Amino acid sequence: MTQVPASTESSRRSFLKTTAATGAAATLLQRSVHAQGDSTLRVGLVGCGGRGSGAAVNVMTADKYAKIVALADLFEDRLTQCRQQLGRKDSKFADQFSVDDDHCYVGMDAYQKLLDNANVDVVCLCSPPHFRPMQLEAAIKAGKHVFCEKPIATDPTGVRKVLEIAKQAEAKKLNLVSGLCWRYDRGVKATIERIQDGAIGDIVATQENYLTGTLWQRIREPEWTDLEYQMRNWLYYRWLSGDHIVEQFIHSLDKSLWLHNDTPPVSAYGLGGREVRKDPVFGDVYDHFSVVYEWADGTKTFAHTRQMSDCFGQVEDFIFGTKGTAKVLANEIKGHAGDWQFEGEKPSMYDEEHRALFSAIRDGRVINNGQYMCYSTLMAIMGREACYSGQVIKWDKLLNSPMDLSPHTYDFGAAPSVSVPVPGKYTVA
Ligand SMILES: NC(=O)c1ccc[n+]([C@@H]2O[C@H](COP(=O)([O-])OP(=O)(O)OC[C@H]3O[C@@H](n4cnc5c(N)ncnc54)[C@H](O)[C@@H]3O)[C@@H](O)[C@H]2O)c1
Repeated sequence: MTQVPASTESSRRSFLKTTAATGAAATLLQRSVHAQGDSTLRVGLVGCGGRGSGAAVNVMTADKYAKIVALADLFEDRLTQCRQQLGRKDSKFADQFSVDDDHCYVGMDAYQKLLDNANVDVVCLCSPPHFRPMQLEAAIKAGKHVFCEKPIATDPTGVRKVLEIAKQAEAKKLNLVSGLCWRYDRGVKATIERIQDGAIGDIVATQENYLTGTLWQRIREPEWTDLEYQMRNWLYYRWLSGDHIVEQFIHSLDKSLWLHNDTPPVSAYGLGGREVRKDPVFGDVYDHFSVVYEWADGTKTFAHTRQMSDCFGQVEDFIFGTKGTAKVLANEIKGHAGDWQFEGEKPSMYDEEHRALFSAIRDGRVINNGQYMCYSTLMAIMGREACYSGQVIKWDKLLNSPMDLSPHTYDFGAAPSVSVPVPGKYTVA
């Protein structure tokens, strides 16, 4: 069983000052970082659902001296479920999970209470995407290192805000690691590096397929208000999830962005709709999208995503070059210089992203994934708006769009009204 050494508050504090230090001071202080490499890093989790609980396990796996000490969630039952699951006495992480009643925070301001009171060094932000800009802003303001799940917003206003917060994180030398986990997958990284080194010549086009089944749905309890229903079923509401092109397909679109050296596309058009999600319980989201993205260099991305059961399923990135082809998720290249297949070790990419975060903190380095997590989010919003409207959407215009999907109030009661966008009628703000 891993024994987490009890750290004194003073050594922990000086260690953390080290990680926020700059320039020459950082070099000097790095020595003490190495000396204190076994100092406890206190971690708070915001959003204790499926991914949040998983991220907590990834934290404890990645760094044996990291300790989950605080939980925050909108709903008490979700927090309790997570606390019980992670706090099992027979868990191999029993020594790294220590959350007492005083460090459990519930409600809309739970994240702020955690940041103000729990004395954490790192926060994992794993609530639904709509809440990311406000929670990330508070975390960086409070001087915390952050693991930030994708996507980072559901509208351009949120994306612009996060671009600004990412700059603040950089200025404060705080780590900001994105949950776009494929960027931390060894096989995917090696494949993309080879493509970027010319293994298939120049990229002509990429095809992104995320053809998958349906997702969970939470049956309405009689005591839930309309807003609570939406928040518990956040996947199906554009203002909360961004629609599945943003919430899920972002993983694939991000790989196209990465292959274009994080330069965004200039325009997009597409088509989509909801063929099987006709029931109002599915809010206002579509069940399929097909988008053509165009880059300034003339290359294109053909992007298809579908969430329907009993249909052909495939999740893969197909890359077409002047001298060959590649499949990124299969880690496979067929190029002019011969075929190549990644055969190295493949530890969990979810553990790897936390290894990167925690080793950066301990080594006094800073990772900032801010720009690409914002760009891939906006790329997904661009595809969504192209399909909703039936129009061509330009990157520069969308980046400056006033679109803000926030509700007037978060008080439980009436919910924002929803209507399914009709192409040709829907207009982009
Ligand atoms: N990187 C990945 O592979 C991956 C996989 C799954 C989910 N995700 C992302 O993780 C996030 C969470 O997804 P999930 O599957 O865990 O959903 P979930 O519904 O299981 O969990 C979300 C949790 O956040 C809580 N919550 C809701 N509003 C909140 C608020 N304002 N403040 C604090 N907590 C709040 C909910 O009560 C719930 O416990 C999403 O952004 C999703 O896109 C990423």
